[in-house]
Amino acid sequence: MSENLSLLYLFYDLKAKIIFKFKKFELFKTKTKETKEFKKYGFTVFTNRIIRKECNSILKKIKSLDDPWDSTNKFKDSASEIFKTQLISIFKNGIDEFIKSVFDSDYYIFYHSLYKSERLTKEKSPQGSQLWHADGGPGNCINLMICHSHIDESNGSMKIIEWEESKNLLVKLHYDYKNLVRNTLSINDFKNNRIFSREIKCSLLKKYIEEKSIKYFQPESKNSGAIFAFRNNCVHAGGFTEFGSERIVSIMHIYPSINRSSLDEKFNKLHLKTKPYPLFQDLPK
Ligand SMILES: [Fe+2]
Repeated sequence: MSENLSLLYLFYDLKAKIIFKFKKFELFKTKTKETKEFKKYGFTVFTNRIIRKECNSILKKIKSLDDPWDSTNKFKDSASEIFKTQLISIFKNGIDEFIKSVFDSDYYIFYHSLYKSERLTKEKSPQGSQLWHADGGPGNCINLMICHSHIDESNGSMKIIEWEESKNLLVKLHYDYKNLVRNTLSINDFKNNRIFSREIKCSLLKKYIEEKSIKYFQPESKNSGAIFAFRNNCVHAGGFTEFGSERIVSIMHIYPSINRSSLDEKFNKLHLKTKPYPLFQDLPK
């Protein structure tokens, strides 16, 4: 993302904060432990009884549906529409407050993707989002993972590196990748091949992490309903699901908004993923 574009997102963010404070929405509310943790480390995990109950109900409903997954294990329909009641209750009971407290503004859900991770053969190796990477969109995005199934190492719970360490890794990656392209690789290697360039970046990150034994966090929860919120530019990797295990989660990309809206209005949309991140001209006006 270019510096000019990053500045535009930053100004929008600032405008959303000023409007929020000016209208005195929750102006002097103290920050919760989760908000402080998110701001310090770039991620946090929390849950409560109602969130666990609603996630369990979503999981049961998914299991009762005939053929809910497409060929890539993504939920075929709009998960926001089908599970609207449960999601509004989940947001009402912790998430809405958490997001507003992190942003200091109101927000909107850019997309919601519900998917299943599983491994049906023993031979498969990690690929795509299972490799170490950062999402690379506007840095003000909150990635909100709602874990409908339990999560642990064996069903591929996502691994993440703290924000300060992630920043060091991404700066190193930026310069090493530039040098590599300049000195070693021919421009033909990159022609129409974003996958090739991504693979190089992912393997460089893997090398740095292994060489320095950089610590990562991988949440565990025996129950349905863990909420795992993280900054999209923290270096992360989807865990590798063990043969025979399964993980079902929702991932939402959430951005600040200058408009105030109720939860009903927020969930009055399908939230289907059409682009990786919003264009500046598409932000709520
Ligand atoms: Fe990612």
